[in-house]
Amino acid sequence: MSSPVLNGVRVKVPASTANLGPGFDTLGMALSLYAWIEMKPAHQTKFHLYGDEMNGIPTDKTNLIYQVAQSVFQEAGVDLPELEISMYSDIPLTRGLGSSASAIIGALAAANELIGVPLTKDKLFDMATALEKHPDNVGASLFGGIIAASWNGQHADYIRIEPPTGMGVLVAIPDFQLSTSKARGVLPEQVTLSDAVYNISRSSLLTAALSAGRLDLIASAMRDRLHQPYRASMIPGMSRILEEAPSHGALGAALSGAGPTLLALVDKEAGTGAQLEQFLEDVLGEQGISARTLWLEPDKDGVVVVAGASEEVSFMDSIKGEYTA
Ligand code: HSE
Repeated sequence: MSSPVLNGVRVKVPASTANLGPGFDTLGMALSLYAWIEMKPAHQTKFHLYGDEMNGIPTDKTNLIYQVAQSVFQEAGVDLPELEISMYSDIPLTRGLGSSASAIIGALAAANELIGVPLTKDKLFDMATALEKHPDNVGASLFGGIIAASWNGQHADYIRIEPPTGMGVLVAIPDFQLSTSKARGVLPEQVTLSDAVYNISRSSLLTAALSAGRLDLIASAMRDRLHQPYRASMIPGMSRILEEAPSHGALGAALSGAGPTLLALVDKEAGTGAQLEQFLEDVLGEQGISARTLWLEPDKDGVVVVAGASEEVSFMDSIKGEYTA
């Protein structure tokens, strides 16, 4: 089967937070912080990378976006070895906001669109999870909203949950980077049955509470014993923030993915945002951690095709007014 190849596509893909506390490698939520990718067939492969978050990203065929795009073409039986790729991202690297997952999802979606959408979203989810090894960040960036997912090594099953109305997100992004592999390296090989039960119950309750809009249950349901206690020593101030954020106006708080970003969920109607933001800044400041806070929303759309690439409007002009830098 041969597919029609477009002249070019642009996609917009959200950041994500993983785990939401107890849902280790299982729960994810898309966030209103974005990257944009443009992909065009070319005579010779070239890259245009914009923004501070792109520093150090390879500009040859080892580039992740290029490689992921080729995996789509291979799966679809299409030969498109040379690409012109443009990317801008507001998603900070190695901070626990799913930057690599957003790059993978953006590349899968752009490449699939470019060749006439031969692969289903569920197929893209399986391909993305095979690369990331866990479905939480990639699922959120692909589908938007809140994703509960399991992965059997080949296939990811999932349910997308609409984020509760009125729920906002505050993140505190420390200036230092923490790689996922380092943050996974401190986790134990085995856990006790009581810790496993502790997490299963809270993860189940959290999923049900988010589905039912029971914001009152989030604080107790976001507690975790599988990963956050082990990662706490790498993020000074984290334990206190997770413990005390609910009494400073948060619905609940968690380490965002593998960290070091800390995430608090808020009821936007409650008017507690300023107090909570001050609390996070104070605790991190006392620990000598320089961090920036950012108010976000759950993203509901996941990756979207924003336009065909046009000759008239340049890539950066096409996203002007949307990005934050
Ligand atoms: N669930 C993963 C972790 C997310 O916590 O290690 C990081 O990508």
